[in-house]
Order: sequence, then C-alpha cells, then structure tokens
Amino acid sequence: MRKLTMKSPDLTQSNIDRIAEWFPHVITETRDADGNLKRAIDFELLRQELSGDLVEGDGERFQLTWPGKKRAILLANAPTDKTLRPVREESADWENTRHLYIEGDNLDVLKLLQESYLNKVKCIYIDPPYNTGKDFIYRDDFRMSKREYLESSDQLDVEGNRLFLNTESNGRFHSDWLTMMYSRLKIARNLLRDDGVIFISIDDHELEHLRMICNEIFSGNFVAQITLLCNPKGRSQDKYFATNHEYILVYSKSELPKGYFSVSKDEEQIEAEYPEIDEHGRYRLLELRNTHREFGRHNRKNLFYPFYVDPETADVSLEPGEGRVKVEPIWDDGFEGCWTWDRNKARRELHLLTAKRSANGSWKIYRKSYAEGAVKMLKTIFDDRRFYTEKGQAAFSSLFGTKAKLFQAPKSVELIKTLLRTVTKDDDIVLDFFSGSATTAQAVMELNAEDGHRRRYILVQLPEPTREDSDAYRAGFRTIAEIGKERIRRAARKIREETGAGIDGGFRVFRLDSSNIKDVYYTPGEFVQTELSGFVSNIKEDRTGEDLLIQVMLELGLDLSLPMESRRIDGKTVHYVAGNSLMACFEDNVPESVIRKIAQERPLRVVFRDGSFADDAARINVEELFRILSPGTDIRVL
Ligand SMILES: C[S@@+](CC[C@H](N)C(=O)[O-])C[C@H]1O[C@@H](n2cnc3c(N)ncnc32)[C@H](O)[C@@H]1O
Repeated sequence: MRKLTMKSPDLTQSNIDRIAEWFPHVITETRDADGNLKRAIDFELLRQELSGDLVEGDGERFQLTWPGKKRAILLANAPTDKTLRPVREESADWENTRHLYIEGDNLDVLKLLQESYLNKVKCIYIDPPYNTGKDFIYRDDFRMSKREYLESSDQLDVEGNRLFLNTESNGRFHSDWLTMMYSRLKIARNLLRDDGVIFISIDDHELEHLRMICNEIFSGNFVAQITLLCNPKGRSQDKYFATNHEYILVYSKSELPKGYFSVSKDEEQIEAEYPEIDEHGRYRLLELRNTHREFGRHNRKNLFYPFYVDPETADVSLEPGEGRVKVEPIWDDGFEGCWTWDRNKARRELHLLTAKRSANGSWKIYRKSYAEGAVKMLKTIFDDRRFYTEKGQAAFSSLFGTKAKLFQAPKSVELIKTLLRTVTKDDDIVLDFFSGSATTAQAVMELNAEDGHRRRYILVQLPEPTREDSDAYRAGFRTIAEIGKERIRRAARKIREETGAGIDGGFRVFRLDSSNIKDVYYTPGEFVQTELSGFVSNIKEDRTGEDLLIQVMLELGLDLSLPMESRRIDGKTVHYVAGNSLMACFEDNVPESVIRKIAQERPLRVVFRDGSFADDAARINVEELFRILSPGTDIRVL
C-alpha cells in the first residue's frame, strides 16, 4: 500500500531523476536539514562527463540575468503544500462541463497542475501585467512586518497574500517583474504538449526582457513577434510618440513545421479571390509561367518546355497536333523564362491547365487553383479593427449591459479567437493563467459554437480585490475572479441564444487553499509530543471527502474535469472518478463489506485514509482482499 505525498511534485528532485537516467553514477546521497537521507548530484563527476561543453561558473556567456534569477528557478522548482478545493456552488453545470476556472496565485496553481496536465496543453494565451509602473505584482515570498506593510503601498488579496504596486522608483523594478514571470513561464512550459504554443501579450515596457527569457525557456523556439494595432488614435499622454500598438510574442515548445500556423481563408476572402466556378467549386487562375525574372531557361532547364494549345477549345496538351499552337514561357521582350511546374507534374495535373489568349494575341497557360482547403499565413502586423482594445471593452460592456468600467481594458474576443484558430481544434486544452475578465473563455466558447469543435479552457485568476472606489466594487464585485466567472455565465447564455449551438457553457470552479493535511504531517519535528496526541486524524476538520478526492486526483495526475460521483455503500460514502478509474473512501472505520464491494468493482486505483482502518490487521486484510478480488488495483493511502 503506497502512501500519497499530498504535495505537488518537487521539480528539483524530478530534474535529479532525469540526470540519473543518463548518468546514474553521478547520483550520490546527502542529508537534509532534518538528517534525512536524500539524493543529490556529484557535480565534480557530472562536470567530467560534460567537460567538453560545460560553461564554468564565472565564464562569460550570452544570457539575461538579474538579481533574483536564481531565486526564480528555486521558486519554480519548489513544491507547494497547497491544494485546490472544489467550489460546486459557484460552478456552472459541474456534472457535464470540461472547462475549469481556478482562483488563486498562478504559481501555486501551475505547480499543482504539473501531474494532471503535463504535456497536455495545446495552447497558452497570457496577458500578464505589462509592468507599466502602475501594475500590482504578486510578491511570491511575503515576509514583511505589519509596520512595513502599513507603510508600504501594498494591498492584500482576499487570502492575505501581498500584491505590491511596482513603481519605477523600486530599485528592482524590472527584476521583480522578471522573477515573477520567469518562474511561471518555466513551469507553464512543462504543461505544453510537444506541439504546443504560447502567445503572450506585452508592450514596450518589458518586450526585450520577455523575449530574452522566452528564448531561454523555450530553447530558442521563437515563432513570431506580432505587432497589434490596438489603439488607432495613439496615446496622447506619451512623451515622444503617441503609441498605438502593442505586441504578441509567439513561442513553441519544439520546432514546428512550415505552415503550422496557417488558417483557412474566410468566405469573404474566398469570394473575392476565387471568382471562377466549375463543377469542382470555386477557383482562380494563376499563371503557370514563373513571374520572377531571376529564373529562366538559363538556370531552370527542366522547367522550359512547350505546351500545345487548341485555339478552338483552349485545351492544353504536351503533345503537338493538327492546328495546335506551340506556347513557351517567353516574356513579351523575348526573355526565355520558365514554368513553375516540370513536365512530369504538368502531365499529372494536365486537367488543371487551361489557356487564354492575351490582348496581343499570344497564348498564356494558367493553372486552376481551387478554394477548397485554401489556407493563408497570418501576417505579423495585426491591424484588423476588430482587434482594437475598444472592441474588447465594447464586447465586455454589452454582456454586462453597462457603460461602467467593471474591468480595465479586456482584450478583444476576436483577437484571441484569431490566435486560437491557428493551432487549436478538437478537444484541445487552452490555458490562460492571467485570465482577468475571462476573455479567453468567451473566445473558446464562441469558436466552438462557430466550428463545432470542443476546445476546453483552464483559466487561472488571483482573487485580486476590486478597489472600493471602483465601478466593479459598486456593482457588487469584490474580486476580479467574481467578474471573470460572471462574464463566462453571461457569455455562455448569449452564445447559446444567438447561435443555438449546443456548446459547453459550464465550468468547474476550484480555489487554491492550504493543504487538506494538517501541518504535523509534514513537519513532525516542530511539534512536541503532547500536541501530537491531538492529531488523531491527519486531515483538517473543515475538509470534505471531495476536497481530499481533488488533492488525490492532482497527485495521481488525473484530469480535474473527469466525471465524478459519490455513492453510499453500506452507509459509507465512496467516490468514483471516471467510472472505476479511481475509487476512494475517506471515512472512519470502513467495514470489510465496503472494501469487498469496492474491490469487486476492480478499480484501477483505490485510495483510503490511514485512519480508515481500525488497526494494522484491518489494513493487511484490505491488501489481502484486493489481492484476491482485484490484483491489478493500485492501492494508496493518505
Ligand atoms: C492584464 S489582466 C488580463 C486581462 C485579460 N486578458 C482580459 O481580457 O480580461 C492580468 C490579470 O492577471 C491577474 N494576475 C496578476 N498576477 C497574478 C497571479 N500571480 N496569479 C493569477 N492572476 C494574476 C490580475 O489580477 C489581472 O486580472
């Protein structure tokens, strides 16, 4: 019976595991602060293994560094002892939805998602604070006295975590922002599939720094830097030029093939660009002659050959014949050019070729290019008016039926849809861990309504308090997360009403909270014996069976959107996840009859609580029952 750790993975240890796979002999043991043995790396040996390529400590190399970078790596790798708790009453259509809305600091949340969503996310879109000097940034290590806090301009989120106003007078203005972003991007990358992609909105304040850390984290897999015309009037309060753009950085986890981001042409474009129609659909005629003068008979001999055209029917042939006119790729001034297809391709695709007589009486060869399946590459300047910030604000306001500024500058829904269209389909997962007013959720639902796919979103948002003098506060919203959830409910209703599409308009809400397990479980050394006797159960009193179930699912790497149900078996509550993928019973004194019934369902995994068994004999009995009735079951306790 294996014990669950009830902690997020320790990424330092998993890095050591990876090195151990390649160089097992560099692994050694050392003792931690409590005297426990733990695995470590013998760097001298590893250095020898890599001596040809190792960059020595103080050696110069091309990199971006800042005070706090090492801490950012530590922050990213350190496990969190927090957990996610389900909030059914704020969720919509809990039973059927596959979307997730998670409230909490995204660093902890990303850590908790490491097992369940490792290599599972197709696309991440984020719109982090741009560090304009007016942004609140989340302080990851909150150690400040009350006096210091009162003297500072900081505010607390609803859980008492600190958000600080990062002004340019802060000596670590850029460093603090970079530390915050680096740790989050580093672990977010783990969640991306190998063909996964990240889009990051940013402006001039941190663009060059962000590009450098992304180059490092995404191993140089830079895809594009899109310039977005977001505010056509420009910002008149700027010092020198009226800025009217921002950027979207695009990176991929691995190198992707050419054309990966191409999208289908839309109807309007197809009608404009493909004016001809035949029994196979819309098409346009493209000249077969290469229109680049640097290519011709002199350097492309195999592309210079004659066609023969029937002047009555305009049929094209490769063979001469009675009355047929010989046509070669010769320019009006006599330059001997070339075709774009060689003779073999022309023979295979002859049915696509046709000829037209031009004004001067000479014949030209054309190929039919059909609209079906036609794709286009997006350009790196986005100047579509639907992408303007004001359009984002208008879409948001119309949902809430108010002109009040409930949320500052939500992104344009059409912008996010355009990005998502490039790389997502089917039931791909889209993650936004700075989700604000939840524009990404609306974009996912609208796209699904349009094309019938079943993309799923995971949104993460800090329960950042709204200011008391804000429109949002006056409208009754106490946190930004409340605004986000309300927007999703309203958007889902509107999309259903307007399109009639049967989209998934629900979402499961989870809230970041302290672990379900009492602290003694983690640090017994800190408690004296008399206190220990108070801990009959290792579970906090206010936690429910479903709370425990979610923490177990996170540790076992199960998707939080899987179907879950609870049944009563002989008076005890038994949880089922995705049928019998996971069964769990966290009650006290679970009788043998219940354990037998669980085993008879042959679950893949089963979890009990340590305290579920009266004594060691009962525990051994459980193992025995499973050995007989369901030997394949993975049995765990917490
Ligand atoms: C610029 S807004 C995103 C706006 C969003 N794209 C939209 O269209 O509504 C950034 C959001 O990130 C949130 N945020 C900042 N730090 C965070 C953190 N550490 N964890 C989770 N959310 C955070 C802020 O509360 C803010 O709502």
